[in-house]
Amino acid sequence: MGLYATVMGGITEYTGLSPAAFFTILAMMAVVYKLVSGMFVAAGDYVAVKKANAYALREPVQLGENVTEEQLRGYDGSDPEKPLLMAIKGQIYDVSRSRMFYGPGGPYALFAGRDASRALALMSFDPRDLTGNIEGLNASELEVLQDWEYKFMEKYVKVGQLVGARKQTETEGAENGNKIQEDKQIEDNGAQQPPTSVCQ
Ligand code: HEM
Repeated sequence: MGLYATVMGGITEYTGLSPAAFFTILAMMAVVYKLVSGMFVAAGDYVAVKKANAYALREPVQLGENVTEEQLRGYDGSDPEKPLLMAIKGQIYDVSRSRMFYGPGGPYALFAGRDASRALALMSFDPRDLTGNIEGLNASELEVLQDWEYKFMEKYVKVGQLVGARKQTETEGAENGNKIQEDKQIEDNGAQQPPTSVCQ
């Protein structure tokens, strides 16, 4: 008890503040310190961040128009020296800049090194849908896929094409998009849409 009273008395004597005010200011300083220090990266982490950025920003490697599915699998992120690739409708995109999505441990890592057209159209994580086969999809599913394709065309560099994939020009894509839109208006019966808006 004597010690407690001495400390409290000391605080008032040396700072001119009441103990309550002193500890409140101390707590506020701790919060500010936490906030400000959180804005900086530790030296070691900084090097790692720079390396990852340099990797993502390097010039995409063009693979040509006859890439096999086996070859594409080699770009699934398991080799950190190779770019991360993903295909939609046979068109291969370099998605290395979104390593946090598609890299190992990322929420969409299963799509890397694959043509994920069916999974994206159906908004499905079922491994059986990890294929470029889009047979049997309805108009609204094709529209979802089309939106994904536009997003990828806009965001990522196209680096190749899977064997047998049909080359699609941007105008052609837009025409298809309109066609799908019309079909959808005819077919749409108010069915609930998958959560594409949160992702696209
Ligand atoms: C309710 C469930 C879901 C939520 C809350 C969600 C949320 C998100 C968010 C916040 C992003 C980041 C968007 C951005 O910053 O650009 C994202 C990206 C993405 N989502 Fe989802 N998502 C969900 C379901 C799905 C499903 C079912 C799929 C496909 C099967 C999917 C595929 C993707 C893909 C491919 C990306 C990355 C797009 C890119 O490369 O920019 N998501 N998602």
